[in-house]
Amino acid sequence: MNLFVANWKMNMTRAEARAFSEELGRRVGDRDLEVELVIAPPLTSLDAARDAKGRWSFAAQNVASEREGAFTGEVSALQLADAGCRYVIVGHSERRRIFGEGAAVLSRKLERVREARLIPIYCVGETQDERAKGHSLEILTRQLETLREDPAEATLVIAYEPVWAIGTGQIATPGDCAEACVHIRGVVGSRRDLRLLYGGSVTSDNAREMLGGAGVEGFLIGGASLKAASFASIAGLA
Ligand code: PGA
Repeated sequence: MNLFVANWKMNMTRAEARAFSEELGRRVGDRDLEVELVIAPPLTSLDAARDAKGRWSFAAQNVASEREGAFTGEVSALQLADAGCRYVIVGHSERRRIFGEGAAVLSRKLERVREARLIPIYCVGETQDERAKGHSLEILTRQLETLREDPAEATLVIAYEPVWAIGTGQIATPGDCAEACVHIRGVVGSRRDLRLLYGGSVTSDNAREMLGGAGVEGFLIGGASLKAASFASIAGLA
């Protein structure tokens, strides 16, 4: 089943989240969903985005690397599970780049996510510079090393998100994405329950082509996920 994750980032008030979920609920209606819908709201909008009919679940955008205690401003994996999250985005390029999260902290976060029985959506992707130098696949390999201690039998989602495609309107070609996905599957080959997503400038205009030929089973969507209409359309629910 294809998976569509709306990453709202630091957007959406509670009122906006409520309006979004009402509209998404109207668009989905009572049909049997053949896709899986996930919203990653800011935690302040979690309750406002909840669906009484359970047609979508939640991902957290971030998680603390520590279990509990004196870590002002952090939210633990256990607290996320308790609040009703099912997934956690780990290693998004904005966390890596803006907040300096590297392999050591990300592998601790993955451990916390597993302890809380949540499912990581682990993000990997090369920058424009790394791509220009022909280092893309090597960078992916290095970022995937962080999964070394992650239990191979556990459900895992990996999002291939080339940094140069995030929020730029410059989407990867299906061919580029397919090449990266073949590489990713090769590196984490022994995993039984793995789903690969693509992220970076996905819109309702390019989603179909990408789903067809890029070797992915869904998307992690930023900008185009802020409107229920475009999120639904990307998920094929228009
Ligand atoms: P974008 O963001 O769809 O706005 O490019 C994707 C992401 O950061 O997950």
